[in-house]
Amino acid sequence: MVRPIIAGNWKMNKTVAESVDFAERLRSAYETPADREVIIAPPFTALRSVAEAIRGSSIILSAQNLHEAEKGAYTGEISGAMLREAGCTYVIVGHSERRTLFGEGDDRINLKLRSALTAGLMPIFCVGESLREREEGTMETVIERQLKEGLNNLTADDIGLVVIAYEPVWAIGTGKTASPDQAGEVHRLIREWIARRYDPKRAANLAILYGGSVTPKNIAELMAQPDINGALVGGASLEVDSFVRIIGY
Ligand code: PGA
Repeated sequence: MVRPIIAGNWKMNKTVAESVDFAERLRSAYETPADREVIIAPPFTALRSVAEAIRGSSIILSAQNLHEAEKGAYTGEISGAMLREAGCTYVIVGHSERRTLFGEGDDRINLKLRSALTAGLMPIFCVGESLREREEGTMETVIERQLKEGLNNLTADDIGLVVIAYEPVWAIGTGKTASPDQAGEVHRLIREWIARRYDPKRAANLAILYGGSVTPKNIAELMAQPDINGALVGGASLEVDSFVRIIGY
């Protein structure tokens, strides 16, 4: 049984003060039960302060992105080591907004995954098809390509540290959720692919999160699917009340 993970991706929302306020309110609103893991991913500027606000609680910190290089002349970028030092345990890699708005391809995402692992961060690796790809019937090919190229050169031990998030691009921020059956089917495909590429035990222990318009209303039916091990939540993670209701699904 994989321990369920609920992760909030705040994207480019919340100042440092707002982030700390959220973290403190989340801490007092909810005692995370031992059977699930709660992650929040504030913007870079708030990481350090949020790390301090959640110290001693079971809330875990994630960044939303990293640069693949260790250090150097990359104006405006942040390395894995910097994120570790700021208190991050996880980092989101390959989010569809990074792929589409910032031109990150599978090769780059692979470098980022490797660099995250080298820095001691656990990647939340996002995959997902666009509406056109789903309508054209290439969904499976697209997901398999993203997995194959994204995970290139990662060992079975590395996979033990990776969380995969399936986020159909057409469901992100649109209010359209994949139906539990639709999502469950893709999660099964992902787990089967990992079992073939690595081994069945790694696949069975892999946490695969669903993301795309998750709300307090639809979380329970998504989590009822056997291959859905948690959620990567955008919009509905920005308010303490709705995030707490999702955590307590
Ligand atoms: P959403 O975003 O919940 O607002 O659809 C999910 C995500 O992009 O991770």
